[in-house]
Amino acid sequence: MSAYTYALLPFLSVGLADYATHMWGNAQAPTKENDPTVFTSRQGIETLLRRLVLDKTSFPNIDYVVGTVTGLIANSEDPTRIGSVAVKGAQGNFTVDGTFFTDCTGSAQALKWLPAAGFGGADKEAKKGKIASLPLEELKISFDPKTRYATMEFPLPPDLLKRTPVPDDGRMTIYSCLSHPTKNSESLYVLKRDGNIVQLCIGRWGGGETPSTLDEFMQHAPEVYAENGHPDWLYPFLDALHEVEDQMKLHKAILPARGFGITWRLTCRPTG
Ligand SMILES: *[C@@H]1O[C@H](CO)[C@@H](O)[C@H](O)[C@H]1NC(C)=O
Repeated sequence: MSAYTYALLPFLSVGLADYATHMWGNAQAPTKENDPTVFTSRQGIETLLRRLVLDKTSFPNIDYVVGTVTGLIANSEDPTRIGSVAVKGAQGNFTVDGTFFTDCTGSAQALKWLPAAGFGGADKEAKKGKIASLPLEELKISFDPKTRYATMEFPLPPDLLKRTPVPDDGRMTIYSCLSHPTKNSESLYVLKRDGNIVQLCIGRWGGGETPSTLDEFMQHAPEVYAENGHPDWLYPFLDALHEVEDQMKLHKAILPARGFGITWRLTCRPTG
């Protein structure tokens, strides 16, 4: 690791690999898997990964290119394969050649790019029922559990954990209450993260609303089913966060349908 990466480590929370998981309120038996584990925010893990991967001393052959992929181009010698990606950069358009490509844009763009590059047309000559002849739109499987979550992030006042009866045993997940699949569709999390921040999160499936304020979170928490209720310390702890409520950052996410494109069944680019 570079000195650069080491400099980042104190800001990433590292703790016991115990997620303090409660299955609808019931604590799981303590785990023996307690190797130090990085518990960091999305910003923290992204910064760490970039610094690890883009370390030119360790990996001189990795290049980072800034631009927006606008499409795929079939390999000129073997049109059944993708040969390059088209990129729109600040200085104009260019292409990047390769033999293996991954699309990490989130909601896959490849299903739009592939037909534009000539892949995925139904092969009219292929026998009916032969999987390789299915058109692209019939190869996409998707499922929408209507997942959404709200995360509220607060700076953790240094003495707050001591003033409230929170079990502070060095774990980074203070409480996680997973949903009972037949009782409700919500989960609740209280997480300590890098730079001494605390994150409250309620996630749900099946649509519906998620809380936007600390008071809404507190009103909502009892509706997240827990067989024997939530721990006694939860509400005093949440209430104490009113002290730093003015510094709260709210992040709401509505996740799109999970799509799965079986692109390996795709018809090859028609020749000629
Ligand atoms: C760059 O690529 C985009 C997307 O394919 C296209 O719309 C645009 O016309 C291209 N620009 C130039 C200068 O070729």
